[in-house]
Amino acid sequence: MAVLVTGGAGYIGSHTAVALHEAGRDVVVIDNFANSSRKATDAVRALTADSVVVVEADLLDGEALAEVFADHDIDEVIHFAAHKAVGESVQKPLDYYRNNLGSTIGLVDAMVGAGVSRLVFSSSCTVYGQPDEIPVVETAPTGAESPYGWTKYMSEQILRDAAAALDLDVVSLRYFNPVGAHESGTLGEDPNGIPNNLVPVVMQVAVGRLEKLMVFGDDYDTPDGTAIRDYIHVVDLAEGHVAALDALANGLAGCTAINLGTGVGSSVLEVIGAAADAVGAAIPYEIVDRRAGDIEQIYARTEYAAEVLGWRSERDLAAMMRDHWNWQRKNPNGFH
Ligand code: UFG
Repeated sequence: MAVLVTGGAGYIGSHTAVALHEAGRDVVVIDNFANSSRKATDAVRALTADSVVVVEADLLDGEALAEVFADHDIDEVIHFAAHKAVGESVQKPLDYYRNNLGSTIGLVDAMVGAGVSRLVFSSSCTVYGQPDEIPVVETAPTGAESPYGWTKYMSEQILRDAAAALDLDVVSLRYFNPVGAHESGTLGEDPNGIPNNLVPVVMQVAVGRLEKLMVFGDDYDTPDGTAIRDYIHVVDLAEGHVAALDALANGLAGCTAINLGTGVGSSVLEVIGAAADAVGAAIPYEIVDRRAGDIEQIYARTEYAAEVLGWRSERDLAAMMRDHWNWQRKNPNGFH
């Protein structure tokens, strides 16, 4: 039996494919390579004794998807594949709804058709917006502030309804801010164009691709004035997916939403400091205005993941920066 990993060539999907292999599972990746590289799946195969099967197909192609289920003995699914740029989603809302919701619905259809009932879904802490209470707990109110965020919110709802009606067992994992890379330095994040996220920008500054980092606001109500997030090592996150599949296999039923974070909040300036330590050089930066749509601070309450999945993150900010830098240093232009 095998686990189907949609979007398995992407940043989190590729690290998860490796973690699944290490945990003894057979892995089939499906990816359309719209926002990922074949070189990522080459790296995954190199790290997994060439055992991971890679299928190039679009999840919106129902026939291709049914064929994947027919050709392979799939008994579990992890669904990463989605458009994920917040700003782009505001410009192209229909593309985001069509792709992210259409693929989730098509995937559930294919699962039901093939008699597969266990699904782990890639959700986001963006469904909390700026929570009233932090660390944020899974029962906090949810919503969204961008079409991208709404696709995560709506996909969770679609899966709750599908789980109830169609006898599926689903875990929606709400990720905080994934950073870092595989310790080999052969697998990591390779954003298209100029990155939006903090750590990819920091590392591109460190490697000389960008001149300096713009820090979006130092007038937040936080100890150093910069915004606070819960950065989590991508390998910890990947292992959280293995734990979620194990929990489903061991009888976790219905639809469950779980935070995957560290519970530790770090400010932008703290991240810059940790990155400078890892790189061994200062990261030039300039304080500019706040970025529209940003929240002040969020970090996860992690007890529910520990209780339900028996999982906790293990790697600290220094390890995240060390591994992200190792990847960027060895691959200054990512997979290109
Ligand atoms: N930041 C900068 N300069 C940059 C980039 C980011 O100062 O060049 C700051 C941001 O203002 C924010 C922090 O660094 O305070 C983290 O920003 P990221 O873009 O890395 O992460 P976000 O928390 O803003 O974004 C994350 C996910 C999205 C998700 C979003 C919801 O990456 O997928 O949370 O708010 F939609």
